[in-house]
Amino acid sequence: MSLSLIANWKLNGSKEFNHHWALEFFRNFNGNNYSSIGIAPASLYIDHLKAVLADHDIMVGSQNIDMEQTGARTGEISASMIKDLGCAFSIVGHSERRILFHETNHMICQKLIQANNNSLIPILCIGESADENQRNNTYKVLEEQIIEALGNANELSSLIIAYEPVWAIGSGKTPNPEEINSVHEMIKDVVQSRFPKIDLESVLYGGSVNLKNASYLFEQKNIDGALIGGASLDGREFALIANVLKEQSV
Ligand code: PGA
Repeated sequence: MSLSLIANWKLNGSKEFNHHWALEFFRNFNGNNYSSIGIAPASLYIDHLKAVLADHDIMVGSQNIDMEQTGARTGEISASMIKDLGCAFSIVGHSERRILFHETNHMICQKLIQANNNSLIPILCIGESADENQRNNTYKVLEEQIIEALGNANELSSLIIAYEPVWAIGSGKTPNPEEINSVHEMIKDVVQSRFPKIDLESVLYGGSVNLKNASYLFEQKNIDGALIGGASLDGREFALIANVLKEQSV
C-alpha cells in the first residue's frame, strides 16, 4: 500500500510537540503498516521528528521545496536537502502556497521536476476556490491545474495528487463523499489519458477530514486516503483516523 494518510502540520510544532504527538499516536494506532503514513512537519523539525519516530518506518516529508537546486535564494530549501535528511516525499503546490506565496502552476511544475530528480514522491495539491465551485467550474479548474503543473513534468516516476477544495480547508465543510469520488475519478482519467508515462499512485482527499467524517470518505472507491491539516495535530485523532482507513482498506 502506498502513502495514503499524510499529516500536514503547517506552521505548528516544537520538539516538545514531536514527543507528545508520537506518544499519543503510538498509544492509539492499532496497525503495523507504518509506511503508508506520512508526516510533513516544518522542515526545521524533520531531523528531530525522525529521531523521535525512531525505528518505526513512518514516512517523513516536507511541506514545500524550492523550484531550484541551488543558488542565491535566501530562505529556500531544496529537494536535495530534504532528501539528504532522509525524507520520502514533499507536498507541492498547496493552496496556501499558491495564495499566500503566489506560486504558479509553472513554479509548481519546476518543483515537481526537482522532487522527481531527487527521488522524492511529490504530493501535488489541486483544488478549486469557493467561487469557482459555485460557478460549477470545478472540473475545468482542476483539469487546468493538472495540465499546467504536469506540462513539462510528464515523465514523473511517481506522483500522488491531493484534491483539496480551497473552501474546505480548515472550514469544517466538505463536499459530499460521492462528489469527491467523482472528482477523483476525473483526476485519474485526466492523468491517465494526458500523461500516460506518469505513474499516479493514488488520489488523496484533503479539507476538514476528521474522525467523524473519515469512514464516509474512505468507503468511496476512488478516495485512496487523505491529506490532513487540523485533525493531524492531535496524535490520538490522527491514529484513530489511520485505524479507520486500515479497516476499510482490507
Ligand atoms: P485541514 O487542512 O485538514 O485543516 O482542512 C488540510 C490541508 O490544508 O492540507
